[in-house]
Order: sequence, then structure tokens, then C-alpha cells
Amino acid sequence: MMNTKIVTIKGQGDVFSETEEQTLREAGEILRGGGLVAFPTETVYGLGGDALNPASARKIYAAKGRPSDNPLIVHIARLEDMEDVAGQVPEAARRLGRAFWPGPLTMVLPRAEKVPKETTGGLETVAVRMPSHPVARRLIACGGGYIAAPSANLSGRPSPTSARYVIEDMAGRIDMIIDGGDGEIGLESTIVDLTVDPPQILRPGYITREMLSQVLGEVSLDQTILTADSGQAPRAPGMKYRHYAPRGEMTIVSGQVAEVVGYINAQAARERAQGHKVGVIGTDESLPEYQADLVCSLGSRQDEESIARHLYGILRRFDDEQVTRIYSECFDTMGLGQAIMNRLLKAAGHRVVTPVGNRERQSPDI
Ligand code: TXA
Ligand code: MG
Repeated sequence: MMNTKIVTIKGQGDVFSETEEQTLREAGEILRGGGLVAFPTETVYGLGGDALNPASARKIYAAKGRPSDNPLIVHIARLEDMEDVAGQVPEAARRLGRAFWPGPLTMVLPRAEKVPKETTGGLETVAVRMPSHPVARRLIACGGGYIAAPSANLSGRPSPTSARYVIEDMAGRIDMIIDGGDGEIGLESTIVDLTVDPPQILRPGYITREMLSQVLGEVSLDQTILTADSGQAPRAPGMKYRHYAPRGEMTIVSGQVAEVVGYINAQAARERAQGHKVGVIGTDESLPEYQADLVCSLGSRQDEESIARHLYGILRRFDDEQVTRIYSECFDTMGLGQAIMNRLLKAAGHRVVTPVGNRERQSPDI
């Protein structure tokens, strides 16, 4: 166990107090010296190390308990630094950078020599992202400009949307944790691969396919994003792991609200009688209808951003309370809904049922 320093940095927009500046410089020194610092971003917390130092990448894999063939995202603080870590930058990447950076978008580009293979998991491509969170941007600059950062969770747990979850998973394993408040978005960045034509979304996120298409024209979608058995491996190596899985067995229930509520309540009654602890992931509109051990709302159906922001916290809560069966409502797959359903389907191992009358139909693909 190592001693993990835990600090809080609030800032006012991108202005920091003298003490906060000093702490950020100290964190930057840790990164430059090959140490690890967890920090807030607008999506989820990142576990940062120097992206150009192979030893830092190895430490990141060890701290997360993550396989080292799973490449890391290189975080930058200035648009022009993309040209440094990418071997070659297509015009489409510059256009996307101008449209969406700083922000929750990651681009896969050919790797430049200076990025070690330890950081890219042995790949000849590199994932690059310029986050918008002021603490993240200042820390990247203080740490040398190129920070490799996966989500700051232990492998197999949901990404941390709050410093308290980072402390749960990483205290004793890294040098410093910076608490900068809760993630605004709550789901990891959109990943788009620009080394293929047309560009392809490898992981859906806040920047939607519709938004990317406005800048790029045609954009394709990795077929494994919403389908259980396309017979293909996902192209982002990390997407093949059962990443977002809660400990309880989870089922998504699709269909008309009344039937969904009826089905979940019947299942919950039956399973509680068998000794299970049953949790339900619902929405503000349906919450009062459910009877189970733990009923949580993601927010209003009218507010997809709230649903994205609350999902991982609720999955963690179900783990903490040792829920053994989880039922979740289903969501549309348009816009941000695509990212929400992608994470829900992964958490549920693609187990989806559609109740029809008093029967049910297995519907593995959304
Ligand atoms: O929002 C985010 O992106 C957060 C914050 C901290 O920035 N980071 C994050 O990192 O989610 P991580 O390591 O948990 O997820 C990175 C994903 C993995 O699925 C990985 O396989 C994929 O990006 N990836 C990284 N480099 C890649 C590459 N060169 N080609 C294809 N996929 C890549
Ligand atoms: Mg992750």
C-alpha cells in the first residue's frame, strides 16, 4: 500500500487560488516524475500518468488491475499538440477538433514515434482527447502536456463519476487523487476512429453520431455497440471486456411502461420470495409504481443528460448494497440514448426481455 494524498480543487471556472495552483504544480511534478494522479474530467475521473513514459503506462495497468493490451487515451491541453502525438493528422481530425474540443471526444489516429507502445497497448494507432474540465486542462499542462488516462476505476467496476468512488477503488494504489466535484456528463467520451474511411464510432458518448455527421458527412458505427452476437470483436480493445458489469444479475425490460412495470414487479416478488435482494433502475415517471428492495431513478425520461449522469452511481450503489437481481427500464437509441443503451446492455450482458401480455420474448438485440 502506498500513501495516497487526497486534495480538493474547486476553482472558479478556469481560475484557481494560489494554494490550488500550488497543488496543481505539485501534481504536475508527480506526473513528470513517473507517478500517478487521478483527476476529474467532464466525463468521468481519469487515472493519469505521463503518456510518453513507458514505466508510467505499466504503473497504470497495475493500479487498475487491467490487461496491458488495452490501450490508453492520451489527453492533451492544446489543439496543436494533436500534431505531436499523431504520426499523420487528416483534415477531418482538425475539423472535429475545432468543432468539439475541448470536450468529450476521443480520436483514433496513426501513432507518432514518441508515443510508446506501452501507452497504445502495442497498437500503431493512438487515441487522443482534449478534455474541457478546467482542472484536467491545467493538470495536463503542469504534467508536461501528454497525460495517458483511463477511467480511474478498478478493472471491471463502473467508471467513477465522483471522487468518492475513485477513493474507494484507488486509495493506497496511486500517489494523488484530486477531488474536483462530480462529472458533468457521467459517461466516457465518444471514440471515433479516423484511420478508416468512412470514420467509425468505436464507443458512443455525449458527442453523438448525428453531431459527428454534421462535420464529417458519413460516419459508420462499430457493429458490436448495440448487438450481442455480431460474431465480430469490437475494434476498441477495451470494449470487449465486460466493463460495466454490476455484481448482481441484470436484465433490461423493454416495451410499454405498464407492461414493463407489471413484469418487473412480478419478477421482483417471485425472486424476493426466493431470498434475492432485488433492485430496480427506473425513471421519475414510473418510480412510485415499483415494489422492490431498492428502487432508484435515473431522472426524468425527458432529460437524457440526467440519465447518463446517474447511471454509473446507481450501478455502484447496487453493488454496495449487495443487490443480487437488477431490473432496468429500456431507452431509445437515438442521440445520447445510443451511449446510454450501450452501457446498459454491457452491464446486463445483453440480457433483454420484452413482456407481451403475460408471456415474455427474449430480444437480445436493440
Ligand atoms: O471519457 C473518457 O474517455 C475517460 C476520461 C478519463 O477521459 N477515459 C476513458 O479511458 O474512458 P478508458 O481507458 O477507460 O477507455 C479507453 C477506451 C478503451 O476501450 C480502449 O480500448 C480504447 O479507448 N482505445 C484506446 N486507444 C485506442 C486505439 N488506438 N484504438 C482503438 N481503441 C482505443
Ligand atoms: Mg474505462
